[in-house]
Amino acid sequence: MHLKTVQTPVAVVTGGSAGLGLCIAQVLAAKGYRVVIVGRDADRIEKACQAIASSLGGDSVDNVPLGKTADVTESSEVGELFRFVKTKFGRLDVLVNTVGTSDRGLLENLAQDRLHTLWQQNVVSSLLCSQYAIPMLETTGGVIVNIGSLASKVGARYIGGYAIVKHALAGMTSQMRLELKPRGIHVALVSPGPIRRADAGNRYTQQLNENLPDQAAKPGGGARLKGLSPERVAAAVVRCIQRRTPDVVMPGYLRPLIAIGHAFPRLGDWLLLKFTSSKSPD
Ligand SMILES: NC(=O)c1ccc[n+]([C@@H]2O[C@H](COP(=O)([O-])OP(=O)(O)OC[C@H]3O[C@@H](n4cnc5c(N)ncnc54)[C@H](OP(=O)(O)O)[C@@H]3O)[C@@H](O)[C@H]2O)c1
Repeated sequence: MHLKTVQTPVAVVTGGSAGLGLCIAQVLAAKGYRVVIVGRDADRIEKACQAIASSLGGDSVDNVPLGKTADVTESSEVGELFRFVKTKFGRLDVLVNTVGTSDRGLLENLAQDRLHTLWQQNVVSSLLCSQYAIPMLETTGGVIVNIGSLASKVGARYIGGYAIVKHALAGMTSQMRLELKPRGIHVALVSPGPIRRADAGNRYTQQLNENLPDQAAKPGGGARLKGLSPERVAAAVVRCIQRRTPDVVMPGYLRPLIAIGHAFPRLGDWLLLKFTSSKSPD
């Protein structure tokens, strides 16, 4: 760890009340971080804190996460969040920007208001939290991790505006890493493929229509990839923090395929169509 003091490190996990964010918060708490879980729904946060507390057992009372409600797309609420962290702990070592939303549809039909929502959730949320966190992270030589997706690296069919905003998040991450390196802050992107979850396949039913094939409802818009466990992705996020890795792709075997696709776009398109086509005709 590149921490400048031996005090208990502090981590803020946005979107820590559910899904991948909850799992990341749990792993960080188990590693000894004081974790602040951020979401919009206080009950959901409370339940997440309780779940992590019981997973930690009675001996780790000091590591039970704190919850803080904030809509991280709202500058005033993000400002209040980081003032709370400063007042409560006086330091920040890690910010994990997990808040993000996927999409289903064709770009041909992408509405401007939907793109605005995706932009706020996937890009503005991470930008605002990072901006407010920088002064404290500079003091500790801390780390920002942005949670991307394979849609940060490549396009795929049927995922609406998701590739647009996750590519923007990737660009923001690499620019911020260069800007903050001289100030001792590391900025990373973790880009997982579809993550296993209870509501897989049912999440996007409201966005499906006659223009989309059945495979669009599936994780990754029907990408032929085995779902990752959230625990595996959370462990990779923590490794990325500890090793100050700039960029993580999961599963890792896709990284060379993505690089080949960028170097040889015709071959890249062929690979993407192969990985994202259902076996039966659409
Ligand atoms: N699921 C996948 O298969 C997958 C695959 C690759 C990448 N990812 C990425 O991983 C991240 C997490 O995805 P997930 O599916 O685990 O998420 P999720 O289950 O939908 O959970 C989203 C979390 O973010 C919170 N949240 C949403 N909007 C917020 C806002 N404006 N302000 C504060 N909190 C907010 C939610 O709580 P409230 O609603 O109570 O605010 C919840 O805690 C996203 O960036 C996603 O793009 C997911």
